[in-house]
Amino acid sequence: MGDSSNPCTIAIFGATGHTGRVIVRHLLAQQKSKSLRLQIYVRNKGRLLDFFPDIESKRDVRVFQGLLTDTEVVKRTLSAAQIIICTLGENDNIPGVRILQDGANSIIASLEDFKANQEDWQKPRLFLLSSSTFNARFAADRPPLVHWLIKTAFSHPYADLIKAQARLLESTSLLSVTLIQPPVLIDEEGTGHEINTESVRLAVSYEDLGAAFCELVLEEQYHNLNAVGVSSKQGDRVLRYAPEILRRIFWGMYAHIIHLIFHSKA
Ligand SMILES: NC(=O)c1ccc[n+]([C@@H]2O[C@H](COP(=O)([O-])OP(=O)(O)OC[C@H]3O[C@@H](n4cnc5c(N)ncnc54)[C@H](OP(=O)(O)O)[C@@H]3O)[C@@H](O)[C@H]2O)c1
Repeated sequence: MGDSSNPCTIAIFGATGHTGRVIVRHLLAQQKSKSLRLQIYVRNKGRLLDFFPDIESKRDVRVFQGLLTDTEVVKRTLSAAQIIICTLGENDNIPGVRILQDGANSIIASLEDFKANQEDWQKPRLFLLSSSTFNARFAADRPPLVHWLIKTAFSHPYADLIKAQARLLESTSLLSVTLIQPPVLIDEEGTGHEINTESVRLAVSYEDLGAAFCELVLEEQYHNLNAVGVSSKQGDRVLRYAPEILRRIFWGMYAHIIHLIFHSKA
């Protein structure tokens, strides 16, 4: 994908996050062999420069800073993009979170504007970081109680994800969507990634998720997939991941219950 006469323009949202950083690192490395133009949205450029100090001096990389609700910034990021990568999101169970809805609304508004005003505009493909919890085939392997605990402990960011995802999926005249649906995200070294449409393991490291994202984006053979799971090859180590998963479920349930109590009193 992408050659010197016809570079591939990739717009990236979420580049400063755990998944986004790995993706940007891989794409920068791929720029040597593939003709890729990266257009990166950030809300805080300083944070991106902490991770990639010389990124602004690189050829074919442009960085756009602003609010996610600022359609002009989002339009500049999306300008001429054939591929959009979105790894925006929130992991903590914070009531009212709407990062993904804001991102989806701005992306849709920008594409509507391009479609109406640019004769040569072409529909891009969006690779959206979603969750295995919302893939019926993947979730069917989970015990029902565990599935309920996970949905409840992350109820607020999941509500944001589901609303944003629905808006994007229904906008078929503006974009095609591939949902990347990983299991639990873990900050550890990679053990190799697995891309699978039938099942996922218990966990995926950010390293493996980022590498898989790049493979999915850069290999056109994957571009007809609507939803795909990504796991680490050694992502089934239950005893290794259980303490971290239980810790997150505990604090997520705590936030969910506290919100219910205060919401019912209000
Ligand atoms: N935790 C899990 O086990 C799990 C499992 C499956 C799927 N997921 C999904 O993974 C996603 C989180 O991925 P991650 O861990 O890579 O996220 P992350 O490290 O928290 O990064 C989130 C990104 O979103 C940006 N962002 C957050 N709020 C923003 C705002 N108001 N305006 C603009 N940008 C904003 C952050 O920018 P800054 O750097 O400036 O903050 C960062 O670039 C969630 O959507 C979740 O549903 C999580």
